[in-house]
Amino acid sequence: MPNAFQAFRTAHEPCSSQLSTTARQASARTLAGCAPLLQRCSSARGNPFSTPMGGRQSKAPAAASPATPQAGAGFLQLEPYSPPAWASHVPLVPASRFRLGMLPTPTHEWRLPGLPEGIRLLIKRDDLSGMQMSGNKVRKLEFLMAEAVQGGYDCVVTIGGIQSNHARATAVAARYLGLDCHLILRTSRQAVDSDPGLVGNLLVERMAGAQLHLVTKEEYGTMGSGPLLEQLRLELAAAGRRPYVIPVGGSSPLGVWGYLEAVHEILQQVQSSPLLRELGPITDIAMACGSGGTTAGLALGSALSPLGARVHAYGVCDTPNYFYDYINGLLEGLGAKPGGELLGGREARGMMRAVQARGSGYAISTESELRTVQEVSAATGVVLDPVYSGKAVHALLAEIRSNPAEWRGRTVLFVHTGGLLGMYDKLDQLGPLVQKHGPPVVRMQVPEASVRQPVQSS
Ligand SMILES: Cc1ncc(COP(=O)(O)O)c(C=O)c1O
Repeated sequence: MPNAFQAFRTAHEPCSSQLSTTARQASARTLAGCAPLLQRCSSARGNPFSTPMGGRQSKAPAAASPATPQAGAGFLQLEPYSPPAWASHVPLVPASRFRLGMLPTPTHEWRLPGLPEGIRLLIKRDDLSGMQMSGNKVRKLEFLMAEAVQGGYDCVVTIGGIQSNHARATAVAARYLGLDCHLILRTSRQAVDSDPGLVGNLLVERMAGAQLHLVTKEEYGTMGSGPLLEQLRLELAAAGRRPYVIPVGGSSPLGVWGYLEAVHEILQQVQSSPLLRELGPITDIAMACGSGGTTAGLALGSALSPLGARVHAYGVCDTPNYFYDYINGLLEGLGAKPGGELLGGREARGMMRAVQARGSGYAISTESELRTVQEVSAATGVVLDPVYSGKAVHALLAEIRSNPAEWRGRTVLFVHTGGLLGMYDKLDQLGPLVQKHGPPVVRMQVPEASVRQPVQSS
């Protein structure tokens, strides 16, 4: 039988516009009573930034600054987990963490073309978090996989779209830890009975030996991810397996801890880097929002910690109201009741801003979004994925340009959440743009005399 935490996992349907609003609202509400596999918080990790809520990390004394850990330190270690001091009041805390990421990820200034004067932009390169380009997913998987391994499960099951970055990240992490992986992937009715090919994430999933189970968008839309996951879980259990179920995007209360930890990492980085400190305290954090877990962690972490930044979530698939409801459900699942004392009376709406950045639809790119992706890579060398960070940066820049006064004097940290492999699914659209706006490819002229001529065979 699934436990209550798994009951949460089956309830959420982000990025699947086929579901009715009522089904979505019911999903969000179901989150409330879930998370029994998290521990009640008892001990907090020593944290030199422990100042009252709403303070700023830049005011912390320099002498208290800890050394930023080396990327990849402790890789593949399963560790008991204790939260940063400022999160010690969150009632439900993971018992352990499996170190899978190359963390901390780099954070640096990012000079985007066309950024109005007076606004500083930083980027956190979570696209470089390791585990075969797993982006933001690796942070969530550190907690989810720890639970899978500690619980004695022998395989993991998760679900997503045909180019799901989360599915691919899970496939790789599972194989790393010696677990089999089953992925339910949503595709079109025309494609569901054929081999899905090897484009983008599919290649990596298949190379890592994941078992793919294809469903149509219609099946996904009418049944929902929960029942589909449960069906596969039962089938595997009947075959004698012990499947560990991970919800869409890894966005469960347990997964949220990945981005609470990221806030701790940001605080440490700013504290230990004079270069970052010079750019002023981070006033805003922005990122793409798909299944809500990344946003929930950053918003909660920012609210509880000395960071105190405004959080802007650029939704690439659902409406702002949907995300507010869903994130409230995640907070409740962590025991941080929306509107309650721990959150200073706030709920998701008071802790973050959800912005509609869906454009033409989930994973459908407009030409101007792709132009932004292309211009940003040509100007800065940072390649954004078109499905998530590309849409988010496009919308963020549009907001800043349309109202620069509102953003003047601010230091905005954009979290690049990865997803680069999904770009291969967009070659048809991206190719002509790159050919049109990039430098032309030239045939290099090599002196003929210096080239050995092929020997003619008689
Ligand atoms: C590359 C990428 N960026 C951002 C997101 C959004 O993160 P979240 O699902 O935690 O909202 C996802 C997944 O949905 C993703 O794959």
